[in-house]
Amino acid sequence: MINVAVFGYGTVGSGVVEVINDNAELISKRVGDDVKVKYILDLRDFPGDKYENLVTHNVEDILGDPEISIICETMGGTKVPYDYTKRALEAGKSVCTSNKEMVAAYGAELIALAAANNCNYLFEASVGGGIPIIRPINECLTAEKIDCIQGILNGTTNYMLTKMENEGAAYDDVLKEAQEKGYAERNPEADVEGFDACRKIAILSSLMYAETVNYEDIYVEGITKITPADFAYAKKMGKTIKLIAMSKETEDGKFAMVSPRMVGSDSPLSAVKDVFNAILVHSNMLDYSMYYGRGAGKLATASAVVGDVIEAAKNLGKHLPLLWDAKKATVADKDALVQQYFVRVSGGDKAAVTAVFGNVEFVECVDGEFAFVTEAMSEADYKVKAAKLSGIIGMIRM
Ligand code: HSE
Repeated sequence: MINVAVFGYGTVGSGVVEVINDNAELISKRVGDDVKVKYILDLRDFPGDKYENLVTHNVEDILGDPEISIICETMGGTKVPYDYTKRALEAGKSVCTSNKEMVAAYGAELIALAAANNCNYLFEASVGGGIPIIRPINECLTAEKIDCIQGILNGTTNYMLTKMENEGAAYDDVLKEAQEKGYAERNPEADVEGFDACRKIAILSSLMYAETVNYEDIYVEGITKITPADFAYAKKMGKTIKLIAMSKETEDGKFAMVSPRMVGSDSPLSAVKDVFNAILVHSNMLDYSMYYGRGAGKLATASAVVGDVIEAAKNLGKHLPLLWDAKKATVADKDALVQQYFVRVSGGDKAAVTAVFGNVEFVECVDGEFAFVTEAMSEADYKVKAAKLSGIIGMIRM
């Protein structure tokens, strides 16, 4: 019997208990032993809950119990769970988590601690919810050099942008609807400002480079300034607008960025709608591969946590190598990144645009203004040129 404790009986934690119990028979076959939830740690009581007898408020019951070999950390936040995670790993108990803040902030340190104690720190559920992406990068793609990851890593904003695209709706209206449906939080900042996607691309970037990409070094721009007019232009150009979390290695350095982008119908990311997430990986032998599915939600996320529980259960007493060093990766200044730009201009004249930007493609769609698409250039070059033009309303990267 392999005994598991679940830290935090919220949406994901209760999903973990449900998955372990509902799929007990097949999990037992796959592990070669029964896997049972012995404790649930939470500050609250859950009278009437099917598993109320498993609830404890005392973490020492769990950390001091030699029968517990695996812990699912689904508490969220980085204060209390950081202490609990460290103590669990030091006691040789593997930890499986959905907590992206924790992984983004302390991933390398906790992996090293797991290695030193012959156990594992696993975090498949921290990026893309139920979508397999951490293990594919660490195992299936280990023969590859990955040079680019582009992801739609936030379901809330993808839902909102899909609504804006389909209905011509304004940002404020779709935000209200997303809040009513329970997709967006009352304080939606983490999603709409791109901070959630930033933590997730920091994790993927760290795995891509096997060094720590600090989320604070990643440029982040959210979707709050996107308007129905932007979507009208996108439609005219056969494109859509997505919040893209990107990590890319070029001869100019290692870039990581979260921002809205105009995405063409030739990219599979353009077909990712509503709350779905997708991660498009480019690597040197395989070329492109894409990972798609539900990036959030109780059972989708819990499924990924339990997948990690099974991996940990099959490897008790053995650390599974995970290349993510504490050494800080040098993230290049985004001003050096070469890409194209979609630019809207109010009034102004096209001759002035051509004089400054050279060869551009003009787009007309909204009265009283026009837009143009530049050739590829660095952001530094773009800024210098844009400063010479008057009337620029906005810019979206391509
Ligand atoms: N708020 C997140 C999202 C939840 O919308 O994708 C999953 O991390």
